[in-house]
Amino acid sequence: MIIAVDGPTASGKGTIAKALAAHFALPHLDTGLLYRAVGRQVALNGGNPDDPTDALAACDFPASLLDDPELRSEASGGMASRVSVHPAVRQALFERQRAFALQPGGAVLDGRDIGTVIAPEAEVKLFVVASVPARAERRFREMQAQGRAVALADIAADLADRDERDRTRAEAPLVAAPDAVLLDTSDLGRDQAIAAAIAIAKQKRG
Ligand code: C5P
Repeated sequence: MIIAVDGPTASGKGTIAKALAAHFALPHLDTGLLYRAVGRQVALNGGNPDDPTDALAACDFPASLLDDPELRSEASGGMASRVSVHPAVRQALFERQRAFALQPGGAVLDGRDIGTVIAPEAEVKLFVVASVPARAERRFREMQAQGRAVALADIAADLADRDERDRTRAEAPLVAAPDAVLLDTSDLGRDQAIAAAIAIAKQKRG
């Protein structure tokens, strides 16, 4: 069974995808991490994330970069969003994601274009959304727990920027697949959101 979990930043899709993977004993790939690694590698190379050649060169990042805690920062998220607009970058990361989705037994992938581009044949497609204030508040609490000093208003502005860039890009924009089930987590706690996602997956699987 392939489960595609798409949605904007801090919607809860990562938590939901991990929980679905644990519940159905499936491997999980956080595809945002791949784009974050490309963004980080551009910075390490001293390149420009808006330049397609610099961004493509960064797709050769070493596997060890995926363990870099810096990838979780807002700065890396912003860089990821900028490199992800280049079709050549998306193409370079496509096979890796597709192979993960097609492994025997299935997989859970979360990202922006899993249900539309990477695995359009997924049996279960969730599109996880939440309001900007709810997402900003969650990200703020996460950052505080990590001891990072950030202002709530800056997080909300950054989220809104990233949403806009992800939704309006020409290649693989953030959009729900026609057969995706919408899950709004604005007013749901962590456990409620996970329970709702599991119920949807079970129902879709039949
Ligand atoms: O999900 P996360 O916030 O880690 O993703 C970082 C950025 O990577 C997103 O803002 C988006 O621009 C890009 N991304 C993408 N396609 C994916 C996953 C992430 O374009 N499948």
